[in-house]
Amino acid sequence: MTVGSLVVADLLIAVLAAAGWLGGGAASAARRRRLALGLAAFALLATVARAITITALARAGWWFAAEKILIAAPLSLAAVVVAGSRLLRAPADIRSAAVSLLFAGYAQSAALLVTVLHGYPASAGVGLLAVAGVVAATAVSWRALGARPSRSVSRAALVVAVAALLTGTGLAAAPGAAPAVRHDHRPGDARAVGEPTRRVTLTAGTATVRVRGRDVAAWAFNGQVPGPELTATVGDVLAVTLRNRDIARGVTLHWHGYDVPNGQDGVPGVTQAAVLPGQEFVYRFRADQAGTYWYHTHAVSDVGVRMGLYGVLVVRPAPVTGVDVTVPVHTLSGLPLPAPETEPVQAGVPVRLRLINTDSTTHRYALAGAPFRVAAIDGSDLRGPTPLVGTAVLIPAGGRYDLVFTAPATPVALFVDGRPVYSTGPVSTATGAWPVLDPLAYGVSSPVPWSRFDREFTLVLDRGLDLHGLLPRYAHTVNGAADPDIPPQVVRLGDVVKFTIVNRSLVVHPWHLHGHHVLVLSRNGKPTTGSPLWLDSFDVRPGDVWEVAFLADNSGMWANHCHNLAHADAGMLLHLMYR
Ligand code: C2O
Ligand code: CU
Repeated sequence: MTVGSLVVADLLIAVLAAAGWLGGGAASAARRRRLALGLAAFALLATVARAITITALARAGWWFAAEKILIAAPLSLAAVVVAGSRLLRAPADIRSAAVSLLFAGYAQSAALLVTVLHGYPASAGVGLLAVAGVVAATAVSWRALGARPSRSVSRAALVVAVAALLTGTGLAAAPGAAPAVRHDHRPGDARAVGEPTRRVTLTAGTATVRVRGRDVAAWAFNGQVPGPELTATVGDVLAVTLRNRDIARGVTLHWHGYDVPNGQDGVPGVTQAAVLPGQEFVYRFRADQAGTYWYHTHAVSDVGVRMGLYGVLVVRPAPVTGVDVTVPVHTLSGLPLPAPETEPVQAGVPVRLRLINTDSTTHRYALAGAPFRVAAIDGSDLRGPTPLVGTAVLIPAGGRYDLVFTAPATPVALFVDGRPVYSTGPVSTATGAWPVLDPLAYGVSSPVPWSRFDREFTLVLDRGLDLHGLLPRYAHTVNGAADPDIPPQVVRLGDVVKFTIVNRSLVVHPWHLHGHHVLVLSRNGKPTTGSPLWLDSFDVRPGDVWEVAFLADNSGMWANHCHNLAHADAGMLLHLMYR
């Protein structure tokens, strides 16, 4: 069983246990003796089963089980002791067991709420809040059922409840540990990059584009989605003028995966101000890294990218030989955009397909008709990639894979999620059952260049209740906090930094650090066995624990976020800050 499914199983069992106890309490209050005993027995079983799932989760990592061990386990124990002992005294009148069973139900429900609404890390305040809730609900039931707790019991309960409430709300209202993001502005980054050799102007504006016979409202660069493909040769100096015609919420250009100087990174409020209608901003940087990248707006990026403010950036080491095409995959208004026109390819010609996932969720790609190699991921060449046949690849949101092959005499076709997007002729292969490539075990390994880490950070990804201004929201959280309250990770120039990224939520989080490529060390405790993987976008699936490292060699303030941009917008974004 994977840790991800264990998380789900544990949640389901917790719901069943809570429902069982509550149902048992209600049945006994209604004097339905057989039903009450049956539900109580069921709840007891579920509660015991939870001991097993919680233990298994703790073995997968403390992050997965912290609040379950510190808060849920004691509450469950109290539930079993109180309800169990009451039932063992086999009351002639089942109604007298109702409050005990309800208490057990409240205890289980409170523990469940702690996991669902708060998650990691557990805190004393949250624990007390849970206890207070259980005490209060039990007291109310006691009254409602006509029995009255003794004076001293009620008084003790009241004290616990008030103390817990104060502590809990105090913790919730305490100011976040995050210092305000400093806008240390270095417009244009005085770094000398030389005279531009490639000048481009991108004008952002609202547009109507035609997709599969339908008119779709979009936001476009130069009237087209995707925006113009920017190409350069290593050593070129790019000067890209961004103009905003009428995007009221502002635009910027972020060079996804391109480790530009901080001032060119295009994050509004951090590296520059958003470019408002009528304004412009010139980005300038030297193209030092060859490979497949893309650009997109980072102002209200969730909406902006989805609406079409993105395009391809390809930097080639030398003039192209053979066929070299980019295949950006994007969904506009629910419609997959068509791939670029395919030209006939002569047998024997080398072909490079640059696959780019510009959506917010993972896509599955399958190339049929020719053996291929994955030459590069996220712009970095792989070491010793071997030929693959009948194998699919999963590309995370924001990620890029370069597939290379020699054109055969027969047609080839690329399928994305089962839909053909590129083909040189009719290919009828069912690719749905193909195994998926694990990039951590592909190609030839080489030793990790660092033997020690100057700084280590852990990011536990989860969901939780968060106060956004004064509005409560169910945020996507990192270490229990949501943007802008997540403390930045502070490093010094030259540090070797290690991130441990843990996903205890039920959904995939494609992680993306700006300005740096991270080297994958391990996933779920297993070190990489294949080619060194230098990534800027990688899927941390539910239950996954990734260890990655990088050299802090690019000063500034860098966004570090989930590239499911709706998640980033809902809190899953923090910053890497150089001291
Ligand atoms: Cu492609 Cu901060 O993102
Ligand atoms: Cu996410």
